[in-house]
This record gives sequence, C-alpha cells and structure tokens, in this order.
Amino acid sequence: MFVDLRDLDGLVQISFDPQRTPKELCDRAAALGNETVVLVEGEVVARPEAMRNADLATGDVEVHATALTVVGPAAVPAIPVARAKGENLPAEELRLRHRYLDLRRPELQASLILRHRLMQVTRRYLSDQGFLEIETPILTKPTPEGARDYIVPSRVHEGEFYALPQSPQIYKQLLMVAGYDRYFQIARCFRDEDLRADRQPEFTQIDIEASFIGVEDVIRLTEGLIAALWGEAGIAVPAPFRRMTYADAMERYGCDRPDLRYGLEIGDASDAFRDTEFGIARTVLAQGGRIRGIVIPGGATLSRKQVDEIEAEAKSAGAAGLIRLKLVNGVLEGPAARFLGDGAAARLGIPEGGLGLYVAGPDASASPALDRVRQDVARRMHLVPDGARAFLWVTDFPLFLRDAGTGDLTSVHHPFTSPNADDVALLDSAPERVRANAYDVVFNGTELGGGSIRIADPALQARMFSLLGIDEATAQARFGFLLEGLRAGAPPHGGIAFGMDRIAMMLAGAGSLRDVIAFPKTTAARALFEGAPAPVPADELRDLHIAVRGQAT
Ligand code: AMO
Repeated sequence: MFVDLRDLDGLVQISFDPQRTPKELCDRAAALGNETVVLVEGEVVARPEAMRNADLATGDVEVHATALTVVGPAAVPAIPVARAKGENLPAEELRLRHRYLDLRRPELQASLILRHRLMQVTRRYLSDQGFLEIETPILTKPTPEGARDYIVPSRVHEGEFYALPQSPQIYKQLLMVAGYDRYFQIARCFRDEDLRADRQPEFTQIDIEASFIGVEDVIRLTEGLIAALWGEAGIAVPAPFRRMTYADAMERYGCDRPDLRYGLEIGDASDAFRDTEFGIARTVLAQGGRIRGIVIPGGATLSRKQVDEIEAEAKSAGAAGLIRLKLVNGVLEGPAARFLGDGAAARLGIPEGGLGLYVAGPDASASPALDRVRQDVARRMHLVPDGARAFLWVTDFPLFLRDAGTGDLTSVHHPFTSPNADDVALLDSAPERVRANAYDVVFNGTELGGGSIRIADPALQARMFSLLGIDEATAQARFGFLLEGLRAGAPPHGGIAFGMDRIAMMLAGAGSLRDVIAFPKTTAARALFEGAPAPVPADELRDLHIAVRGQAT
C-alpha cells in the first residue's frame, strides 16, 4: 500500500508492505484520509527499477515506513488538492473560499516561493545601491493616485477619518525633504477602483525615491532592478530598454502601454481617402478628423463573422465602425474600394491576401478602438511569438488631461509630477500641451511601473494645485504638510513605483494577480475565505459615531 506524503519541498511515496510492516501499522495507513497531517518514520530506499517514476523528483526512491503518527486529522477536503494529469481545477470561487486547501497546490506554492525570492532580490539590489528601506504609515491622509480611498473611522475623534494610502507618494517626498536621499519600501497600497485581472484593491509596490536625480538616473537604476528580478527567474533581460514618447505610442499603437511583441502598427490613411466620394471619409475629413488603420498581412483569411467580432471590440471603445478593405487576387474588396481608384492597395500598403481595418473619426475614440483591434487581431492570428518579451519605457506623458465632460484639467499621473522645463511657459496658455517629466515601464503590454521627477518648488506646487482647480484652502487642508515640507528646503527629487504583484504574476506565468497573492480579493473586492467585508455590530458602529442608512442603531 502506498501513501503520498507531501510538504512544501515536494512529494515522496511511503510504502507499507504487509510482508515487513506490522498489520496494525498497515491498518492505520489504510484508514488515512486525504490531507491528514502525519509524522512518518522509515527508511529511504531505492525503488525497484520497474517501479521508478520519472515524472516525480523523488521517483527513484520510496520510504519504507516503520512508524506512523497522525498529528492533524483532516476533514474530507472541500476541494481536491492533488489532481490527476490534465484534470481541471475546481471553480476559482470555490478555491478562494477554501484558500487554505488551494494554497497547498504546488503551483501556488511555487508562485509564493518565487514572490518571496523576488522580494529578497529587490531588498538586496536596492540596499546595495545605498537605498534605505523605510516604512510609512497605513493610517494616513488621502494620497491622490486617481482611485477612491478606503477610509477608516476614528473612534476618539468623532466624525474624522483616516485614509489608507493609495501609495506612499507624499511620505517618500517628505523623506527626501528630510534628507534620507535614497528610499525604498515594499509598500502595501489600497485603491477602491474597478478591478481586473491585473488589479487588486490591496496590492504591493516596490516604491523608490531619490534626491538629486533625473529621468536618466531613474531609468538606469530600475533597468538594473528589473534585470535582477528577471534574472532571479532565470531570464536574461537585455538593457537598455526601448523607449517611445507618449505621443508616438498613441499615434502608432493607440495606447500608452503598447505590446511590442508584434507589429500591426497604426498608419494614417487619410490621404488615400481624401477627395473621394466615400461618404464617411468625406464627413470625417471635413471635420478635421483622420482615417487611421491597421494592415493585417494574411488578414483576408479572417471570416466575415470574425471581422464582425473585431468590429464589435472597436465599437465598444467608441468607434462608429470599421472600414474594411482586403486584397484578393489583385482586386481590392470592401464597401469603400470602388471610391478609392486604381493603385489604392499600394497606397494603403495592403499586400495580396492582406486586410486593412480603418477607423474614421477623432483620435480620442479612434486610438483606443484601434488599440483593441490590434490586440484582438494579434490574439486571433497568434501573432505573439512564443517566449517573446518586450520591455518599453514610455516617456514625455502629458502633464494634464482635460475631462471631456466637465472641461476640467486632471493630472495624468499625480499632482506632484513636474512639468518639462521647456514647456513651463505653456502652463497657463496651453496646459494640455505641457509634457511631464514622467515615465512608465511597460512589459508585453502591461504597465509594470511608473514615476516622475517631482515638483520641488513650493510655489510651482501651489500653482499646480490651482491649475487642477484645487483652491488654496483645500490645497492647504489636503496637502499642507507637503507644501510646508517643500518650503523647509527640498532637494530636487524623483522616483518610481513598480507593481510587485504584477511582476510576480509575469514571472510566475500566472494569469491573474490572485495566483501570486496568498489571500487575494475577488473582482467584486471580496475576501471569500475570511468573509470580508462584513457588517459591524451596532454597538461598535455607535462607538465609531457611524450610522448605516437603513440599519437600526
Ligand atoms: P502608479 O499609480 O502608476 O504610481 O502605480 C505604480 C504601479 O503599481 C501597480 N498598480 C497596481 N497593481 C495591482 N493592483 C492595482 N490596483 C494597482 N494599481 C497600481 C502598477 C503600477 O504601474 N506614487 C506613484 C509612483 C511614483 O510616482 O513614484 C504611483 O503609485 O504596476
């Protein structure tokens, strides 16, 4: 009789042979339920040749048991831990509900072990570069990073609340003011925002800040960190990484974090459509819009239904539709073809068997639509080469975006990001054209990290708040402590933060952040295993000076 004994290091086969093992011991072994915690004594012996299992690291040996003690009897597990080859995992919801069992799975164990190693590499690398690890508070004031805050009521100060940090941004800047000129932290951050596979409400950043540095210093330092992290996973990363300005990324890929593992660059086809009788094109061009699109070599093989589905993606991002043109046997086909005249395929760069998909309209909707088209086509046509990797720095982000609805300016990153010195003169006259000293690092189309050189001048910081529509009293109430700090003598400073969970997810080859976080939340921001969030008893609420609408107090 055989029992698989498992711990964090792996699995070994225990054998209870009635020929040499007392019957009483064999009987107890036979009665063992799955997942029982046992202590086994025995002798490690080589397995007979025919019994060896090449699929198992310990497949050449087994343990001949001489003693067995049950130290942790186990209820029948709600979900199986061991799986036969090819057997599907139980539904994720069930696995999250019984996380203590799911965490016994070798894949999750490997992910958490890798995550541990990545944290150690981070600490070693930054510490070797002279950075100090300093902790900043969790009960704090709001830090604007674009999400809602999680707030915590104060019992002793009626009607007052702490906010959980969206990032340690302001504290790390104050540490620069205080002269700790190289800081890092593996920092827990909290953001109440719409969740996706690469977003959790509670996540971990590798947060970095330094004084007397510029964009190039941050880039050089963190390319080294990324190389060390990827190196820990056995992957050599060639540095320096590619760079692209935000304007270029939006023009050529329709998004600020393009996946450069494949081509499908966006081109401007307006000229080919100019002065034609094609109705949509005429209207859009007359309104100052453009016609941009993607040429897909071999795309003529996509079925009408498939292109309809791609069009639905484009529409969901705001496009009115897609203009389709394909070149089959030298003939350009598609509703617009007859308007375009001879040589249109060559002008549009559509090769034989190729498909061109175009969006007519303003860039604000055409860019995100073409971004979706690009990603969808790459997925359908398997355009990402196996094992391909693409790191990219996106630089020169705009400092502000103007809200299309309200007309108000908002920060693209956060309000502490400094403007490019060449653009300061535009702050009042054309704020949308001001470039920021900000940078993001992108890996295979996912944003891994972002940062900036900060505003060190308190007057400029106050002006920034005012441009963002934050009046002086509000600025003082919310960020007075930062302004005060900057007035106390602030060195020029800047930094960056990386998503630790995202890095671990990429390196573990996981499909979701939940697979690299021991106790994650669902996309509905619930902790299924602990059962959080949960109602609070009325008397506790009363102590916190809180009444819940519709709930008796
Ligand atoms: P930012 O908001 O870009 O910058 O965040 C930095 C990185 O943190 C990760 N990240 C997340 N990971 C998981 N779940 C989330 N909800 C989530 N939100 C962000 C991303 C992102 O690139 N204070 C600035 C940094 C700076 O300026 O130094 C900041 O927080 O990988």
